[in-house]
Amino acid sequence: MATPEFPRSDPASPEFWDMRYRAAFTPWDAGAVPARLRDFVAGHPPAGPVLVPGCGTGHDVRFLAEAGFEVLGVDFSAAAIAAAAAVAGPFASRLRQGDFFGHGLDGPWAMVYERAFLCSLHRRRWPDWSRRVAELLVPGGLLAGFFFFGDGERGPPYPLASQAELDTLLSGAFERREDLAVEESIPVFAKRERWQVWRRRG
Ligand SMILES: C[S@@+](CC[C@H](N)C(=O)[O-])C[C@H]1O[C@@H](n2cnc3c(N)ncnc32)[C@H](O)[C@@H]1O
Repeated sequence: MATPEFPRSDPASPEFWDMRYRAAFTPWDAGAVPARLRDFVAGHPPAGPVLVPGCGTGHDVRFLAEAGFEVLGVDFSAAAIAAAAAVAGPFASRLRQGDFFGHGLDGPWAMVYERAFLCSLHRRRWPDWSRRVAELLVPGGLLAGFFFFGDGERGPPYPLASQAELDTLLSGAFERREDLAVEESIPVFAKRERWQVWRRRG
């Protein structure tokens, strides 16, 4: 799909994402549940509520709800939440329009599921992201999901330059438990993402 022209806007604002969802220009959206997530929850069912920050169209939220988990998907884009409500159907109450960095997500959460949220944030926000994930999770809780690596300053998506960069963000509060290649990535992330699971210390 050719990239449509959008008025300049800041990816830190909901408007940036609203425009793209409304134009159905969502190259990050797998439109399906990743196999790694299915395998993970089958092998390690979360021991409590699951938070999905920046849930987009919410396929993963629906999957987790259908699998019987208490899950909340949060996204600050009204257009994303509208699309997610259509995907979630009877589970639409598991969605909330709101800012991951704002109030009202107190939890505590047993798991935070990451897919294409960290890479949607500018690097200057990454330390806030890691602090926020750590404060939302119970001790022993899990940050599990996909992490995007590569070169380049321009985004989104903003890639992690190296594993060391992610380790610097997370190792103060987390220990890494799993690190696996991802075979079924969609084109924007192909060969450049890894599935990782991090356990909250404490
Ligand atoms: C690249 S998309 C990924 C969406 C979804 N996780 C997926 O895999 O398709 C990033 C999403 O994060 C949302 N987002 C960005 N910053 C946010 C914030 N501070 N609070 C909540 N949602 C945010 C955007 O609206 C967008 O839907």
